[in-house]
Amino acid sequence: MSSKRELIISKIRDGVVIDHIPAGRALLVLRLLGISGREGGFRVALVMNVESRKLGTKDIVKIEGRELTKDELNLVALVAPTATVNIIRDYEVVSKFKVAIPDVIEGLLKCKNPRCVTNQQREPVRSRFRVLSREPLKLICDYCGTIHELNDIEKYFGLT
Ligand code: CTP
Ligand code: ZN
Repeated sequence: MSSKRELIISKIRDGVVIDHIPAGRALLVLRLLGISGREGGFRVALVMNVESRKLGTKDIVKIEGRELTKDELNLVALVAPTATVNIIRDYEVVSKFKVAIPDVIEGLLKCKNPRCVTNQQREPVRSRFRVLSREPLKLICDYCGTIHELNDIEKYFGLT
């Protein structure tokens, strides 16, 4: 099927296409995946603000020569809960699935409370958040009870 958006960026050969990202979140998705553009090795394409029947407008991220781990998929789900992940091999979509926000997010995000035990310099504890609400996103730190929202993740993201 050829649609207008295919005119913007060509299909990829092997890799992953994260489609149906809420418009404006593509750069955040890349940051959460640790892709800055400086590491080289794989090609990345961003499409922003294209028309989508389901979402009005959406972003798309295409990453060649790389797949996503379970942890990375969970991070994508937090900021782009509507996203569809397409695994591409030899130009074909071999797998397509929607991301899902898990009930517990462990070891992936930093608590914003500097006094939280997960932020101790000595013997730091692995972070753990429980999902209180998916829309709007609300996560509670299992150790100190601090509530985190989407904009906290933007500020405090990062692997712990
Ligand atoms: N895609 C790509 N390279 C390929 C195959 C697909 O970049 N070799 C991209 C398409 O451009 C699209 C996404 O992967 O953004 C999903 O492809 P496809 O399933 O063919 O498109 P749709 O049917 O429109 O997907 P959906 O039903 O999920 O909206
Ligand atoms: Zn905490």
